[in-house]
Amino acid sequence: MKKELIPGPIGVFDSGYGGLTILSEIQKLLPQYDYIYLGDNSRAPYGTRSFDVVYEFTKQAVLALFDQGCNLVILACNTASAKALRTIQQNDLPYINPNKRVLGIIRPTAEIIGNITKTRHIGIVGTPGTIQSESYSIEISKLHPDIIVNSHACPMWVPIVENNEFNTEGADYFIKKDLDSILNSDKEIDTLILGCTHYPLLIDKIKQYAPSGLQILSQGTYVAESLKNYLSRHPEIEDSCTKSGNTQYYTTESASKFKESASIFLNKEIEVKRINIEG
Ligand code: DGL
Repeated sequence: MKKELIPGPIGVFDSGYGGLTILSEIQKLLPQYDYIYLGDNSRAPYGTRSFDVVYEFTKQAVLALFDQGCNLVILACNTASAKALRTIQQNDLPYINPNKRVLGIIRPTAEIIGNITKTRHIGIVGTPGTIQSESYSIEISKLHPDIIVNSHACPMWVPIVENNEFNTEGADYFIKKDLDSILNSDKEIDTLILGCTHYPLLIDKIKQYAPSGLQILSQGTYVAESLKNYLSRHPEIEDSCTKSGNTQYYTTESASKFKESASIFLNKEIEVKRINIEG
């Protein structure tokens, strides 16, 4: 039976702080909409967790955002997009509410890479979960079969962000080590995809250790463009998004901890509520 959609905010979900890099680009391009950001900080990182666990946690987050009135949820997390998106779209949404939508961020990133690389050799860094899933290589080979994709997992980068360890020698060590590893594996790489939404928060250090000619691709602007395009093609979803320009922030960890760290990343003060999303 068709359920009518009551208009609500757009949900943006990540395991922790990383999705804020996507949210802020979406807000810049589409400031008219209302948003709810949800970070599952108490269970981050997701990157080293199994398929089943990432799926279960992501589904709980999507249900929590639907409960808060969202009709459209963006998985602003590559790990969740790689491991949970398809099952949620195909198996769960038809039962939960076939009119609601959940979108990921791997496809929009894979789409634009063909316009960016000149050498047709690219690198992708991401969490172990995203890299092991091979989601990027699969999507890119479908869209741009001539591109050679080199992938490398950086298991320490998310913990560096989640624990606010940006400006430490440890951060320098791991960022340099992982960049050297992927760039030495193929000397023709001209473009590096930051395939984890946490990584743009390390951009200064990444640039410091990357060769000057390397193009470093953060996903935020491309995801925002793709969302704008999606909304223009789906007026029934666009009509179900409220438009007062407000954003609410939720975390599964302590609200004060989230507020303090998120304010550093966002360069502004925000109000945060703690939420329990476990079923
Ligand atoms: N920021 C997420 C991603 O894009 C996940 C990080 C994590 O929880 O490991 O993959």
